[in-house]
Amino acid sequence: MKGIVLAAGKGTRLYPMTLPVCKPLLPVYDKPMIYYPVCVLMQAGIRDILVIIPPGEEAPFERLLGDGSSWGGNIQYVVQYNPRGIADAFEIGAPFIGNDPVCLVLGDNIFHSLPFETQLRRVCRKIESGETGATVFGYYVDDPRAFGVVEFDENGRAISIEEKPRKPRSNYIVPGLYFYDNSVIEIAEHLTPSARGELEITDVNLTYLKQGRLTVEKLDRDFLWLDAGTAENLLYASKAVADTQETTGRYIGCPEEVAYNRGYIDVNDVHAIGRQLEQTLYGQYLLCL
Ligand code: G1P
Repeated sequence: MKGIVLAAGKGTRLYPMTLPVCKPLLPVYDKPMIYYPVCVLMQAGIRDILVIIPPGEEAPFERLLGDGSSWGGNIQYVVQYNPRGIADAFEIGAPFIGNDPVCLVLGDNIFHSLPFETQLRRVCRKIESGETGATVFGYYVDDPRAFGVVEFDENGRAISIEEKPRKPRSNYIVPGLYFYDNSVIEIAEHLTPSARGELEITDVNLTYLKQGRLTVEKLDRDFLWLDAGTAENLLYASKAVADTQETTGRYIGCPEEVAYNRGYIDVNDVHAIGRQLEQTLYGQYLLCL
């Protein structure tokens, strides 16, 4: 399974903060935003990661994430020159994806729950074995109008998905984490832009739904999902990360820890990085692993 982080949005909803620094590099509490989605891919067991970035931003991304080898992975970068929508990631990423299945995560989405890693591994296995063509998630929110909204029948099966509906048919939104088999490349190739001029990820999901090959897994109410795309959400996300870390004593979005837990790097590697960051709580945390 390959992994893609879509980190190419201009972040216009965060101007003027995103004029000099692009959105995925902004801090969410004590880490750059992009650490969180990268960690989700790593938790799913994905080591080959493509980061789709905006033009002119290669240097800061490479300074931050490098080639991924310090976390036991392989990170590559590709520029999206025109913001054509989320599903464009599969066209841009096609040479990287090759013949493999793929997981796409949005660069401003934060996911956390303790059993999430087990769930992610199971989702990957179901795609890799061909048991399902695609898996996305359903997350309950009070106001779903700004998102993709999924409706379930009485047996819990997804029956409709709509992008930013005025009158949502349910309170379950589809967050920015999508698992697909390799046919997603062909599905994305045949999409036509929506009224807002974008290749919609919801149209990809609808294709799988119509083919009877879409699985939608509901996330628990105590699951933490955040879209850090506006100033208000960014503040809320920082607070949520700080609170969760303080209550549990465990970090969210710490790639060194995920890599260590998965056996990609050893304790000496983690401590070497910890020593470089020794003046921060983050560095101290790594030194205690
Ligand atoms: C996008 C997707 C939407 C999804 C959301 C999650 O919305 O189009 O289906 O629910 O991400 O963050 P956008 O960021 O384009 O408003």
